[in-house]
This record gives sequence, structure tokens and C-alpha cells, in this order.
Amino acid sequence: REACSLIPEAWRFDCYPERGVVVTKELCEARNCCFMRASSPSSSAARPSGRNGIPWCFYPPDFPSYSLVSINDTSVGQKATLVREVKTYYPADILTLEAEIRQETDTRLRVRITDPSNSRFEVPISVPNATKKAESPDYIVEISKQPFGLVVKRRSTGAVLLNTTVAPLFYADQFLQISTSLPSQFIYGLGEHRSSFLHDVHWNTLTMWARDVPPTEQTNLYGAHPFYLAMEDGGNAHGFFLLNSNAMDVILQPAPALTWRTIGGILDFYVFLGPDPASVIQQYVEVIGYPAMPIYWALGYHLCRWGYNSSDSTWETVKSMRNYGIPQDVQWNDIDYMEHFLDFTFDSAKFATLPDLVKDLHAHDQRYVMILDPGISSSQPEGSYWPFDEGLRRDIFIKDAEGKTLIGTVWPGLTAYPDFSNDVTHEWWYDNLKRFHDKVPFDGVWIDMNEPSNFLDGSTEGCPSNSLENPPYTPGILGGLLRAKTVCATAQQKLSIHYNVHSLYGLMEAKASRIVAKKPFVISRSTFPSQGMYSGHWLGDNRSQWKDLYTSIAGILTFNLLGIPLVGADICGFSEEPQEELCVRWTQLGAFYPFTRNHNTINMRPQDPTAFSPLARTAMKQALLLRYSLFPLLYTLFHHAHVHGHTVARPIMFEFPKDIKTYGIDKQFLWGKSLLVTPVLDPGMDYVEGYFPEGLWYDYYTVRPTGEAVRSKGEELRLDAPLDKINLHLREGSVTPTQAPNLTLWVSSGQPLHLVSALSDDGSASGDLFWDDGESIDTYENNQYAYIVFNATYITVETAAFYGVKQKPSRVLVNSQDATFTYRANQVRLGGGQR
Ligand code: GLC
Repeated sequence: REACSLIPEAWRFDCYPERGVVVTKELCEARNCCFMRASSPSSSAARPSGRNGIPWCFYPPDFPSYSLVSINDTSVGQKATLVREVKTYYPADILTLEAEIRQETDTRLRVRITDPSNSRFEVPISVPNATKKAESPDYIVEISKQPFGLVVKRRSTGAVLLNTTVAPLFYADQFLQISTSLPSQFIYGLGEHRSSFLHDVHWNTLTMWARDVPPTEQTNLYGAHPFYLAMEDGGNAHGFFLLNSNAMDVILQPAPALTWRTIGGILDFYVFLGPDPASVIQQYVEVIGYPAMPIYWALGYHLCRWGYNSSDSTWETVKSMRNYGIPQDVQWNDIDYMEHFLDFTFDSAKFATLPDLVKDLHAHDQRYVMILDPGISSSQPEGSYWPFDEGLRRDIFIKDAEGKTLIGTVWPGLTAYPDFSNDVTHEWWYDNLKRFHDKVPFDGVWIDMNEPSNFLDGSTEGCPSNSLENPPYTPGILGGLLRAKTVCATAQQKLSIHYNVHSLYGLMEAKASRIVAKKPFVISRSTFPSQGMYSGHWLGDNRSQWKDLYTSIAGILTFNLLGIPLVGADICGFSEEPQEELCVRWTQLGAFYPFTRNHNTINMRPQDPTAFSPLARTAMKQALLLRYSLFPLLYTLFHHAHVHGHTVARPIMFEFPKDIKTYGIDKQFLWGKSLLVTPVLDPGMDYVEGYFPEGLWYDYYTVRPTGEAVRSKGEELRLDAPLDKINLHLREGSVTPTQAPNLTLWVSSGQPLHLVSALSDDGSASGDLFWDDGESIDTYENNQYAYIVFNATYITVETAAFYGVKQKPSRVLVNSQDATFTYRANQVRLGGGQR
């Protein structure tokens, strides 16, 4: 008891996390845990468990855990055997474990804790394989033997990044738990959740299990991303990735500390040493896979809605956009285009002109994308619906526990679910796409409802009652059951039971969908680490409210941390109808989403730019033209994401990690390192306040010719923001490539480049440009691109280098005059010391 009272409240680790139970002293003590009320005023009665708050039932310091009984050196680190003497209160403890410490690189440590006598489910994403121990790691690993625990320190500062001795280790078949202290309260990542960019560590449980639900706080959403970035003192940062796809809770508490609580798989985790936030993300992305380079038009303006009702009304909108001269690269259709919501069909009456619409789009250098849901109708007359009949024939659908095709309900009614963990399913999906493409030559696909979503819980026949459906512990999943609005946990897939692979559905479907010619374009609702290799993401069913405008920024920044830079929120909001002012402000902010799409739900008034007053329409048009003019910059940023794992939409703290005032900023962000976006996020405003890190910032609109600049000491500044303006500032020392905008990126990307140089005090600036044909796959990998570096000194370009120039040019013109240049090893160099 005395030992219990010595534990500060912030350091209580919850011993009774089960939800819906009023935890009494008796229940708690049956687990050999400490029971003590919390001092907080709200805690008057026994705390119902599972709610966010200070636990009343918590582990005593001597709660039994594992101890290390032997340890040996290996080529990459060490291997230890761990033993637990006393069973926990969960069934099927694995009493002997193997812990492998892998010093994979100087900045990457990996730890795998496994069951040496039985293989357990492991996430099937390919990760780098290290065979040799890192030579001079930035970390020190200390091992506590009794109880077993790891302490990971940053060698240069001694900062403790990880300390797993703070709470007992659990490793039961369906309850695996590991806790750690955190070096600060500044923690980011842990998607997919609706929250501020900086997480609240005050008893905040974030549950991960892919789920179809309009984004709300404290709820598991469409994707699962068990990765966090944490700041240390002095601006250093590190990352942590738990490679596990089972349903889990992540508990943040003010110690500060964090607990991973998962109900399956293994404990396989990485620590990334940074030391700055951007390097942490690079190191994470190196493990999960670099995001794909998008096809150029992916970065244009996309227009969509649910409820166009016909191809002609879709077409009318496209024409109206053209008439008003508003940029648009891509037109989308939602489920309305289908015959009775059947995938790979189109409504032969209302969408009879769809093939013509697509032809017309192509003739105008525009593109067409349509939705596909994974649910395949199972109730069509036999022989009338090839996707289902053929799917049965090839045996590609998810099975129930008895081996029968599992049936759920989605838009078309009864549906079967393709099992994308099976390669045969990928072939079948390809064949379907191909057959449809022959009729409607679409350019990309929108894959929705892939959590996978089910209007029923489990299946038409329910689910069996067993420990997979009702595990000893269920994380804080909306609906309280694993099968809530999805298929049964016991459903069978090729790779494993659905219990293990549920949150991987969107990832595996995206992989199967990345097959259209040229660079594929796929946008997915459900996502998992490594998704960026196959698709982008939109933030789901938001609302036409000012609050949703604001939270979209945190969502976009978080997905940039998670290796999915091609991300956006539905501009002007999905559900409800936006006021005109909101839609204008949203279009301005949306013009700076890496993926920019206006989308609206059924039965709402149109909210595309042409639907508003001339004033609003013009403001929206301006914002989109601005985006189009910045395409060379944006495309270059995506190249750096693809090749180096950089973020595109970037938190300000990434560029100023020593400035603690930037740590909580999620109302502003950067494109790359230099373009600062300060949107208006509230109604009725004609000004906006924004934080400017120390330095010189040029107003983007006046940079030419007057060069007006603000010199900030690291302060909040008030900026004019009339309805037709979004504030943009260029950081000193940058060169930004731009082009005259046009109605499509195809046209505007053919325009000459304009460089905008924002000189620093010493008169210099630099920037770069990646350029290729915009469409071919792997142009970087195949050396079919130009990479150009701009250096400005007192506005004079001193040197310019052009890499990857296949043949020696006959002339090089600078300011329309012949310039001397050198040509060697596919490089053209101008100016400077002509080496
Ligand atoms: C889901 C999608 C939404 C789409 C709707 C109809 O709610 O998230 O974007 O419009 O389904 O297909």
C-alpha cells in the first residue's frame, strides 16, 4: 500500500483498462494492483474503466514482469531470452520470449520480441534487411535484467528516448503491452485521428482499427499508423514505429509516458534517431517505403460530388468551369455513375454519355477518375454480373469461419469482399479494371469503403462467438466490437484471419489498384504504413464547418509525417452546405493541400466554384491559379518526397526545431522549406494572425517588384486578409520556380519558368527544380529527367547546373544571349568556376 501511494498520479499505468466496468477495490486487488482514488475533482465515484482519466487501479512497482535469463551477441546486435515466472490475469501468457536487439544503422534501432516456439502473425510489408551491426550508432542501449526493460539514450546528449522499465511487459496471446517514458510532452503522428497536430498527453487514448466513420475526436478512423515523432530538449527529435496491424490502444499520459497495447501479432519496433524532425521522417520512410511520384495532373484541381445524377450534369459542371476560366485538371464521379451501385458498370440511361464525357475531358487535356468500392454485389442473377461470378470461380472472396463466402451489405445491397491478401484477387481486380477501361477510359481510381466498410456488424449470418470475436481485452473501438461496421474478426483471408489483417485492407487494395497505364493515380480512404508507395489519401467525410477547415491542417501535416504526402480534405466540406465565405476560405487553403479536391455529399446544393457569386467565384479562381503557378515548386517537392522521404506540406517546426513556439502550430504550414501559408480559418475576418519564425519573410504578392519583407524576431504578426487573399510568404534565401498558370497543368507546365528569388541578408538565395515528362513511370530511376539548381547572389544567377542532359546542346541562352557553358557527363554547367 505504501509503495502504491508513492507513485505520482501522472505515473500510474492502468491495470484495469477494460471498458464498461466499474472498477472496484475488489476487482482491482484480484489483479494484484494498487487501488487508490485520484485527487482530481471529477473523480467522486469509482472510475468506470476505459475512460480517459487518472487510473484508480494501477500496477505496483513490483508487479511481476519478464526477466532476462541469457543474452548473446549477434552480427547485428544481441539476442536475449526473457522469462516470466508469474502468469498475468490474461489467458495464454507466452512465458518464454526472445528479444532481438538490432543496431541496423547509426540512426535506426530495431527490437523484435517474439515467441521462439510458435510463429505468430507478422505484418507483410517489406522492410530493409540489415546484416551488420551499425558502426557508430547515435544511441546507447542499456538492458535492465530484472525486470527486463530497455533504456535507449541519445549518445550525444544522454537524453532518454525510451525506457520500458516504467511498467510491466505483457505478452499474452491476445494482450501485448509495453510502456515507455517520453522525453517531452511534444508528440505527433499516431494516425488516423482527428485532433490537433500536437497530441494532448493528458490521459489520451488513441485507438487504431480501420473504421468507416465521419471523423470525430477520440475515435478510431479510416487508417492505422502506429508511429510517433517526439521532441527532446534542445530541438532534437526521434521517432518510434510499432510494426503491428492488430487492434490497439495507444495511451498518452502526462508523466509523460506512452503505452502500446495491442491484441495480436508481435512486438516489433523501431527507434529513429533523427536528430531533427525531418530526418526522423526520412528514416521512417526508408523503412516503410518512399511515396510514389504522382503523375503531374494529380497536383491539379479535382472536382467531385456525390449526386451529379447524370453524365450530362457532370459534363455541364466541367463546361461551366471552362467557361469561367477556372483551372480544373480532373473530373470525378461518385457511386451515381454505376448501374445499381455495381462496381465495373455504368448506368446506361443516366450515364449514357459517360464515354463521350471522358473523351471530351481528354480532348481538353483533362482527366477522369471514378469511385470503386470493394464490396461486390452477390445478389445479381447468375450469369449477369461477371465480377461476382468470376470472383466465385477464381475463389477470391473473403470466407466466413466455416469457409463459405462471407456476405455483408454495402451500397448495392448484399456483397462479398475481395480478399486482396491473395495474388489471384489482384489478377481478377485487374481484369475487371481492364474490361471497364475498354468502355470508359478512366485515368485513375478512387478506392473508398475499404476499411472494409459493412452496413452490418460482421455478416448477414452474424459471427461466431469465440475469443477472436470477443477477445479478453478489446481496445477502445467505436461500437465496442472488432466486427462493428466491418466483417467478422474470424473471417478467413489467404494471409491470415481478418483479426490480424483488417487494418491492412486499404493498403492491399491500393496495391492491386495501381495498375493503370503510365503513372497510376489512386486515392484511398483506408491506409496503413507504406501506403504512400501505392496511393494518396483524403481525410474522409468531414463537414462544411469552420472547425473542419481548421482540423484539416493537422490531418494533412500528420499524413505528411506518415509517408503519404499526397493528401487533402474535401474542400468546402463533404456533409452539410457551406456558406459562401467558408467555401472561399476553404478553396484558398485547399489550393495548398498537396491533393486538392472539392467533394460534396448527395442532396446538397452544388459547391463547386461555378455555383457561387461572381465575387466568390473570382476569389476561388485566383486561389487555384495561384496553385497552378506554383506547380514547378510543388512537383519538385514531391520529387524530394519520393527520393528522400521529405514532407511536402510541412509543419513549421520541421524547419525551426529549436524554436519551441513552433511546436504547437497547426494553423499555418509550409510548402517545402520556404513557402509559408497563413490561411484565414474563421468567419468574418479581414485579417489573420500568424507566427513568423525568426528571419526575413517576403510577402509573396509584393516580392516583385518592391520586395517588401517582414523581419521577425520570432513573433505573431497581424496580416491583412480580405476575402480574396490567402497570405503567402517566402523565406529568405529561397528561389521558387513558377509558371504562368492556365486552365490545366498540361498547358501551364509548358509555359516558361519564372524564378522568384527571396534574398537573405547576405544577398544569396537558392532553390531547385525537378522536371520530367510528368507521366512516365520511374523517370528519376531511369535517368529521364532534369534536375536544376538555382543559386542567386545579389539577384545575379552565378551558376546553373543541368543534370541528365542526354546530348550536348548546341547553344545555351541566358537572357536571350548566347552563354558559354561546359558539357560533361550529361551535365550542362553555366557560370561560376567553369570546372
Ligand atoms: C463514403 C465516402 C464519400 C462518398 C460516399 C458515397 O461516405 O467517404 O466520399 O461520397 O461514400 O460513395
